Amino acid sequence: MRAALVLHGPNLNLLGTREPGVYGRASLAEVDRLVQAQGKRRGLRVECRQSNVEGELINWLQGAAREGFDGVVFNPGAFTHYSIALRDAVAAITLPVVEVHLSNIHGREEFRQHSVIAAVARGQIAGFGAHSYVLALDALLALRDGRAPARVNSRRRRGV
Ligand code: DQA
Repeated sequence: MRAALVLHGPNLNLLGTREPGVYGRASLAEVDRLVQAQGKRRGLRVECRQSNVEGELINWLQGAAREGFDGVVFNPGAFTHYSIALRDAVAAITLPVVEVHLSNIHGREEFRQHSVIAAVARGQIAGFGAHSYVLALDALLALRDGRAPARVNSRRRRGV
């Protein structure tokens, strides 16, 4: 693992001012600096991108390996809860994808408690604010170093 792509979905460009009680006061640029600093400490190039457009996120996922990335940290925003197209894109690529959320979606409104992405991601980290991204980067490195199992997702193995 030499390079990781960090993808932020819709409305995350508003971080800092958007519902700070839920998402924190750090701006998107500050989150990106935090995760890039962690990448630097770990010898990893980290590139961060944000889009409000589903198709653009799909194109970035599809192109990530071709662009030289070895893993993806992905906060799909509200698409988490209903985008089958993004789920299919995550399932289609062979790169490890770690799903990330600033808030603990499992403790929020019922419609946020289900992720259509989770079953096809390598794993999910939620609830640690901007630090969720740092933890996700470490999860990618743990996979690379064999400190985390390659895949422990029995539902996916069963094709559910
Ligand atoms: C979010 C949680 C989603 O439910 C919400 O739509 C977001 C942000 C999070 O990071 O906590 O946009 O993905």
